[in-house]
Amino acid sequence: MTANEPSRSERTFPLVLKGRSVIQIAVNNPFRIGILGSGQGSNFVAIADAVAAGKIPAQIAVVLSDVEASGILAHARARQIPEQFIPPGQFRTKLEEAAEREFVAALTAAQVDLVVLAGFMRVLKGDFLRAFEGRIVNIHPSLLPCFPGLQAWRQALEHGVKVAGCTVHFVDAGVDSGAIISQTAVPVMDDDTAESLHRRIHAAEHELYPRCVAALARKEISVQGRRVIWKNT
Ligand code: GRF
Repeated sequence: MTANEPSRSERTFPLVLKGRSVIQIAVNNPFRIGILGSGQGSNFVAIADAVAAGKIPAQIAVVLSDVEASGILAHARARQIPEQFIPPGQFRTKLEEAAEREFVAALTAAQVDLVVLAGFMRVLKGDFLRAFEGRIVNIHPSLLPCFPGLQAWRQALEHGVKVAGCTVHFVDAGVDSGAIISQTAVPVMDDDTAESLHRRIHAAEHELYPRCVAALARKEISVQGRRVIWKNT
């Protein structure tokens, strides 16, 4: 082991209950995060700021994107965090198999303990999910299970709900369907447009996601079936 390599910790993350068996995965010390995004990267910025401020006891090991000109890669470069564009292949909503293998290889090489999806616009398939089972999280701009999929804030407004919000959840094989880690409610105003509601949900995300990632890095979260239990709260 070189001086730059993280040491393995005896602490485990998270406790994933599969039927009756418990999967315990040793994690690095410091805890290592890989972040995937396709867009402007404001959630990445919120998480990176929280790491820099010592609010998340972790290191962002790598940032990956399927969009070469994405804001998230530019933000990572500006902060001198290792970043990489990986061409996604010919599909629009998922990764080609070879691309998916490249994402997994980059995250494995970076020895990440947790994969954080921050506006990554492609569905992840079996091999990726198996490689990081129980260790992938996502943020979605609605109070799941309402309004999964695209433009959730617009779906909420058009449906006429009075309370919208955002959800951080574990990622499983479905679309926005994994176990819920935490949620923030955002009231819908009578004069809201899709844009104004989206702005307020986005602001709520920037508080919620760093808080969830910090709890995961501190191993304060365990999973019992679909229920995610927070310790110390
Ligand atoms: C957020 O609204 C998040 O809920 C969704 O994608 C958007 C990403 O925004 N999954 P940003 O790139 O982090 O600004």
